[in-house]
Amino acid sequence: MTTGNTSMPTVVHHTLVEGVAVVAIDHPPVNASSQAVRRGLMDALAELVRNPAVTAVLLTCKGRTFMAGADIREFTNETIPEPDPNTVHALLESFQVPVVAALFGTVLGGGLELALACHYRVALRSTSLGLPEVTLGLVPGSGGTQRLPRLIGVAPALRMIVTGKPISAPAALDMGLVDAVFDEDLDRHALAYAAALGRAGLEARVLAQRARRLDAQDQQAIQACLDGLPPADRGGYAARACAQLLRLVDQPFAQGLREEREAFMRCRDTTESQALRHAFFAEREAGRIPGPAKDATPRTIACVGVVGAGTMGVGIAMSFANAGIPVILHDLDAGSLSRASATITASYRRLVDKHRLAASEAERRGGLIRVALDDAALAQADLIVEAAFEQIDIKETIFRRLGEIAKPTAILASNTSSLDIDHLARCSGRPADVLGMHFFSPAHIMRLVEVVRGARTAPDALATAMILAKRMGKVPVVSGVCYGFIGNRMLEGYLRETESLLLEGATPARIDGALEAFGLAMGPCRMLDLAGVDVAAKVVLARQASGHLPPDPAYRVVVQTLHDLGRHGQKTGTGFYRYEDGRRTDAPELPAIMAQLAHAHGIRQRPDIGAEEIVDRCLLPLMMEGYRILEEGIAARSGDIDTVWLNGYGFPAWRGGPMFYARTLGRDELIRRMETYARTLGNAFAYWDVPRIPE
Ligand code: 3HC
Repeated sequence: MTTGNTSMPTVVHHTLVEGVAVVAIDHPPVNASSQAVRRGLMDALAELVRNPAVTAVLLTCKGRTFMAGADIREFTNETIPEPDPNTVHALLESFQVPVVAALFGTVLGGGLELALACHYRVALRSTSLGLPEVTLGLVPGSGGTQRLPRLIGVAPALRMIVTGKPISAPAALDMGLVDAVFDEDLDRHALAYAAALGRAGLEARVLAQRARRLDAQDQQAIQACLDGLPPADRGGYAARACAQLLRLVDQPFAQGLREEREAFMRCRDTTESQALRHAFFAEREAGRIPGPAKDATPRTIACVGVVGAGTMGVGIAMSFANAGIPVILHDLDAGSLSRASATITASYRRLVDKHRLAASEAERRGGLIRVALDDAALAQADLIVEAAFEQIDIKETIFRRLGEIAKPTAILASNTSSLDIDHLARCSGRPADVLGMHFFSPAHIMRLVEVVRGARTAPDALATAMILAKRMGKVPVVSGVCYGFIGNRMLEGYLRETESLLLEGATPARIDGALEAFGLAMGPCRMLDLAGVDVAAKVVLARQASGHLPPDPAYRVVVQTLHDLGRHGQKTGTGFYRYEDGRRTDAPELPAIMAQLAHAHGIRQRPDIGAEEIVDRCLLPLMMEGYRILEEGIAARSGDIDTVWLNGYGFPAWRGGPMFYARTLGRDELIRRMETYARTLGNAFAYWDVPRIPE
């Protein structure tokens, strides 16, 4: 039988199998709880609750997963469209026969809340279960904060709700969150489980009726959790609200539910939640290629070649191996290859030691990477990623050679962060097969990959790179060809202003402190010290040589000076800071170096520059470059830019990314601030020119 409102698609079906009413939600892709699902459930349950032939109810889902949450798209509505999930849950709980949820896939948010309203839960071993609402700036809104602690206790529930991290089915079994775990054939086992419960008669297991005391330990756990959370106006609003709600567990259930709903609605309307929901959808949209490549048939990738066995090459090779793809790692230097092999073995061993990977899996992954001194081995590869030294003549030679030896169907990718993909494409003699795959360091950990579409990149080559990156668990974003692509191009203005602020007398600690308080994972001076001042200085020099720098004599003089002084950052023990025994301290000599430079360039120092100015000065040029990138079509959507910054540059997710943040400031305010800086700092080099900002 099928059930559902006539004006809505039928998404809930039910049948009676030997007295068990099997209710199945069929709402691809992830069975999210939309209005149609809730109506379908209400109709089905209302019919079944009156049927005397029903001895048990089995609630399940079709497709790839049990319900993975409420439909996030519904949250833009003023109110939650009827029926309310809590009404569905109350009806489920009121059944006089046992109701069993059969869990598989990703049982998240509203999906787990639905399961908690059932009397029993059984799961496939591979299931993960969680309440990730906090990652969307929300609290669980349909009973999660009240039923979960009543079932598993306050402290474990607090952990799950405040971190939002899912747990495995075996862990859920240990905690009493599920009642049975099956290795396979969930439908058969769950049906038998429900039928047996039906025969035995219902044991009352209604969580809403369960009373739980809040003891001193629980109170302490909640307080300790609150003490460790960021302030409400710094990304901690939802997490704090989650922790507070657990305090209601000793109150009447209806009150807990009511306060939970009020907190959910408050959270839903915060900028934090809007930003996080934007980030969720932007990341998924970024994976969809705009333009003709959208419908292209991807090429088959059974084996990948990586050229260059340095840090990036090794990380890229491991990323492919982690996805089960065989890799040929080629380098002309035997020493580099043996070092690479040792690094790979050691990295996997570390994961095994930390119990993050089974020894057999580590061996399997390591075994997928074969090193090759002779580049002829690359002829087997369906995709070859060049990760050689960032120098144009080296890369030109490699692309010429790859053009000769690669399979005719192979894709040739460069991991360059700044060089011209179209030029390399021409060198290969087969430009349709060439694109950029710009991984971020460490490549086997960082999720972002900028997939660079050259002027002549074939649609199927682009589609293949995007699908492959997703298969590797990466977040791919398409970029057009320009200096620095999306991310590093926007970084330029940010670093330029960082240096100007240093010259004007702000200390590295003050600059980093201001930007980290804004939410960035790492301030610019710490970042440069980590990445290497020498690396940054070389990039500036290369740009200077290509005539691409503004005619500003003070432009990026700080990194160049520190580089000349041998202050290359963490690796030399000094840079913007000092590093000793793994500790970072302020470098007392730095202010004098900056003062000297400022004097040489006629820059007036004013060491009392405030945090607000620091954040503005660094972020405004970054956001303005984002608008230029959009105007030039380098990025297709502003969400793509946000996805780059959230996944590759430590921009705080609760700010939604730089373009979302720009929108929260508003066009008029952006223009006003840009004009203010143009006036107060001067605009001789067009740094404060305002690009086209959409209304
Ligand atoms: N609502 C609406 N759409 C959703 C969704 C949701 N809860 N979860 C996933 N989708 C959509 C995605 O947008 C995507 O759509 P697209 O194909 O049009 O881009 C599609 O489903 C597939 O998603 P993914 O590409 O992410 O597929 P994966 O297999 O990689 O991941 C997943 C599946 C683990 C379920 C992941 O999508 C996910 O984490 N979803 C969000 C889960 C979540 O946060 N649930 C809680 C929601 S809030 C809530 O329940 C409030 C309640 O307490 C009242």
